[in-house]
Amino acid sequence: MKKTDIKLLYSELEKFLNKEIIVAGWVKSCRGNGNFGFIDLTDGTYFKSLQIVFSKNDINNFDLVEKINTGSAIVCSGQIVSTPQNKQPFEMHAKEINIINATDSEYPLQKKKHSLEFLREIAYLRPRTNLFNAVFRVRSKLAYLLHEFFEERGFVHVHTPLLTASDCEGGSELFKVTTQEIYNQNKKFDPKDELFGKKVYLSPTGQLEGEACAFGFGKIYTFGPSFRAENSNTTRHVNEFWHLEPEICFMNLDELMDLEEEMMKYIISGIMKKCPEEMEFFNNFVEKGLFDKLNNVLNNTFGRISYTEAIEILEKNNDKFEFPVKWGSDIQTEHERYLSEVIFKKPVFVTDYPKEIKAFYMKQNEDGKTVRACDLLFPGIGEVTGGSQRETDYQKLLNRINELGLKENDYWWYLNLRKFGSVEHSGFGLGFERILMYITGISNIRDVILFPRTPNNCEF
Ligand code: 4AD
Ligand code: MG
Repeated sequence: MKKTDIKLLYSELEKFLNKEIIVAGWVKSCRGNGNFGFIDLTDGTYFKSLQIVFSKNDINNFDLVEKINTGSAIVCSGQIVSTPQNKQPFEMHAKEINIINATDSEYPLQKKKHSLEFLREIAYLRPRTNLFNAVFRVRSKLAYLLHEFFEERGFVHVHTPLLTASDCEGGSELFKVTTQEIYNQNKKFDPKDELFGKKVYLSPTGQLEGEACAFGFGKIYTFGPSFRAENSNTTRHVNEFWHLEPEICFMNLDELMDLEEEMMKYIISGIMKKCPEEMEFFNNFVEKGLFDKLNNVLNNTFGRISYTEAIEILEKNNDKFEFPVKWGSDIQTEHERYLSEVIFKKPVFVTDYPKEIKAFYMKQNEDGKTVRACDLLFPGIGEVTGGSQRETDYQKLLNRINELGLKENDYWWYLNLRKFGSVEHSGFGLGFERILMYITGISNIRDVILFPRTPNNCEF
């Protein structure tokens, strides 16, 4: 079938005016009065839909078409007519409408408005709603913009494995991968019997393999799913999230923060240009003031503060927190948000955390207590990226691995990188869903990923 994308009608209308074309898609709404009818048709190519006008005189199945349900699939041929006096600048006058598959009264999306909770239960239909259509189109463009940003700067995109034998983030709980029949058996399991001859997990990060690649290409990034098995039911955690991780040689932490800030501004301004209709929709119906918020990010330099300074500020406000802080404690979401929303009122990097609350691979500072880490905190979200300058000293890295009770044997190749032409290098991990939440104004991470994996939820 030679069908025309509805998107093209909006971008190249002159080409189609007064011509007969074929469109195909799904009915968003249909109403008729016995002689005339109107169908609002979407084909998924554009946020806006096409109005089709049909009349009893022109089509031979008027009575059927007039009663067609929302969600039904149709093919329609007809003429594109200019309607400058109407809300929509053009419409189609139908010559023939073929019903491909009509929905019945069981179709759950008949009503215009549904709660987000209800829609999560029928996540397989979410892409058909205005809201999720906008979210997932922005998601697609955002991924494109990230690739574009790194491609333009000469980064190589590498694909790191999702199966790993090492728990490199420490503390983060991992999903175990096994081929053994583990349910309903009283058998003792020996890792040697596993397919890989050892314990294997779903990877929480591609960083370590990314570092190996950085020594070959100078600068790389990975972009794919990461897995965390923690049982946390929050609005910003999923057990499977998309993770963008650049790794750059000959770069220190300050330069890394410059790169992150440049990247954030690039993708935010890019998405406002690439998805004007969707962003307008979010600004009007999801987060009033979204454009002001995003422009505030574009027009300001991000804050930078050390963990120690941040704790001094937070301690003075301990009465406001559920979990009061002192030097050494982890900065939790409520503290992250206080720093970025109340103190800085813009994105802020927190640097140089105590080594006890960060991963083993971060560069140790002279003070013996802190490491060259940086977390980027966004107002309303909290941590959006986590990064660091990496430890390049073989002995220091080995000592830290031992101190933390990690197995040297699991990291032999990572340690070798520190012997074979090791150089200063840094990298970060961006939580793709977290930045998507910020950009769309959506407040629950479950609503920016197609089929969220969260505790007790792996339905689709
Ligand atoms: O801070 P994280 O754990 O850092 C790393 O994994 C490093 N290896 C990154 C690196 O230096 N290459 O995770 C990075 C980011 C977080 O800042 C957060 O945005 C996101 O990944 N993230 C999650 N997003 C959604 N759900 C979860 N459970 C997440 N855990 C981390
Ligand atoms: Mg982190």
